[in-house]
Amino acid sequence: MVENTADRSDNSPVGYMEPTKQVRLTDLQARKGSDSPFAMLTAYDYSTAKAFAAAGVEVLLVGDSAANVVFGYPTTSHISMDEMCYLAAAVVRGADKAFVMVDLPFGSYEASDEQAVRSSTEILHRSGAHCVKLEGGVRIAPRIKAIKDAGIPVCAHIGFTPQSVNNLGGFKVQGRGAGSGQLIADMQAVVEAGADIVLMEMVPSDVAKRVTAECPVPTIGIGAGADCDGQVLVWHDMVAFPEDGHRPKFAKQWGNVGEVLTRAAAAYKKEVQEGTFPAEEHTFNS
Ligand code: KIV
Repeated sequence: MVENTADRSDNSPVGYMEPTKQVRLTDLQARKGSDSPFAMLTAYDYSTAKAFAAAGVEVLLVGDSAANVVFGYPTTSHISMDEMCYLAAAVVRGADKAFVMVDLPFGSYEASDEQAVRSSTEILHRSGAHCVKLEGGVRIAPRIKAIKDAGIPVCAHIGFTPQSVNNLGGFKVQGRGAGSGQLIADMQAVVEAGADIVLMEMVPSDVAKRVTAECPVPTIGIGAGADCDGQVLVWHDMVAFPEDGHRPKFAKQWGNVGEVLTRAAAAYKKEVQEGTFPAEEHTFNS
């Protein structure tokens, strides 16, 4: 990565970094314990992947949160392998040098190690992504070992795991009180099984700090405080899209895309209705 020293009168963020070569797992591993955490954002299509890659975001996650924000399903468990593959392939085409991680959808890895390897192979074949992510700790460790043994990079998602929302009694912070022991056990089990990255969702910051300190591979946090080796957000949450959507406590907004889009669409509609669009300059002559 090199710092972009170009003129910033265009309001590009200070510290903007342009990757000069493909971001690899080894680059993320090299950031373990560094004072420069890496950034990951979800992406679900070609154009947003291009935008986030141009901003220097090191990792793009084709999350099964697409179930909610792209398809409008009530939970992430509704998304299918086909839907994930189409989105992930589009993201890979726009990702430039970013590292692309893709979620294994619910139902594609729970039944057996063989199913987990088959699904991981399929999703990487069909999309070109670099790494798979699956949810669970101790209970899913054998699947992680099987996928790793097949030569596939793996991220383990522990803490709050949305595919298990009904088992967890709703959207609840995990690892509080006695639960911190379970979280440490989950981290140890997935690392022992070969996980290359550990993602923690909705975990108290002091517990996430301890997990990160004891974890030999990079950790990525979402609602897990500032001490992880990387951070991730669902992109809709970081730019308030749609305008009236639910925003989790851990998400900060750096823009208001929902409002900008609605405003633009309303202005377009008004000009169409008034007959001022299309104007002469938008029209072809014979
Ligand atoms: O699907 C997703 O977007 C995720 C993030 C919440 C980490 O798994």
